[in-house]
Amino acid sequence: SKRLTIRDIAAMRRRGEAVAMLTAYDATMAALVDMSGADMILIGDSLGNVVLGHETTLPVTLDDMIRHAAAVKRGSQRALLVCDLPFGAVIDPDTTLVNAMRVLKETGVEAVKIEGGLAMVPLVEKLVNHGIAVVAHVGLTPQHVHQMGGYYIHGKDETSAARLRAEALALEGAGAFAIVLECVTPALAAEITQSLTIPTIGIGSGKDCAGQVLVINDLIGLNITPPPSFAKPRADVASVIRTAVGEYVAETKAKRGPVPLVLRAD
Ligand code: KIV
Ligand code: NA
Repeated sequence: SKRLTIRDIAAMRRRGEAVAMLTAYDATMAALVDMSGADMILIGDSLGNVVLGHETTLPVTLDDMIRHAAAVKRGSQRALLVCDLPFGAVIDPDTTLVNAMRVLKETGVEAVKIEGGLAMVPLVEKLVNHGIAVVAHVGLTPQHVHQMGGYYIHGKDETSAARLRAEALALEGAGAFAIVLECVTPALAAEITQSLTIPTIGIGSGKDCAGQVLVINDLIGLNITPPPSFAKPRADVASVIRTAVGEYVAETKAKRGPVPLVLRAD
């Protein structure tokens, strides 16, 4: 097939080619992201915020993830697909394996992503031993927002930095084929990137990771609240939509088109 595999991702890392990853949650956006050259598409549990209107990612269910991942699979052709395991689907190795198997069997994605540090090592090992490709995710892990006491930069002090170094090495050792570093200080993210063989995929962690990931809505300005400061939107799709809808509403009320479709009876 034309789809990238984890061996292609490993080869990119070896030759120093950056991995470009974005989220998508539906077939149309997946098709656009895919045809624009993204190497990996993440069906992120950020869909809880972006699509479902929740305040955090905690309410997102495995069924939510499966529905959206299946749509992204149908819309895309080339990118390697990674589906987040949501909060509550990652408990012990056995439960996590059953849930990851459901995602793979019901959606056709190639990999799952698991948020968390050392506690996730036996879970990642279990999945990898059963033939599942896993992306790890450390630093700011939004599923743990209440336990962490908010959203903030990680790795600032030596205790936090030492823990992140250990987590990254252990998760690579457990068999993860890539690791997301979210809101990790750029210097530490660069250091961790150098210390690993697998690619680090950064978000809000500076330019020296082996790849980058962003929520697609934050990249294209499809938001009603300001995006995170690291996002640097490349477009303002929200105003494109508001202008188009505003014109449509005005034209409709003025009875000037759009012209209704009339089926001729002859
Ligand atoms: O859910 C998500 O979109 C993510 C990325 C921001 C890494 O986990
Ligand atoms: Na996520």
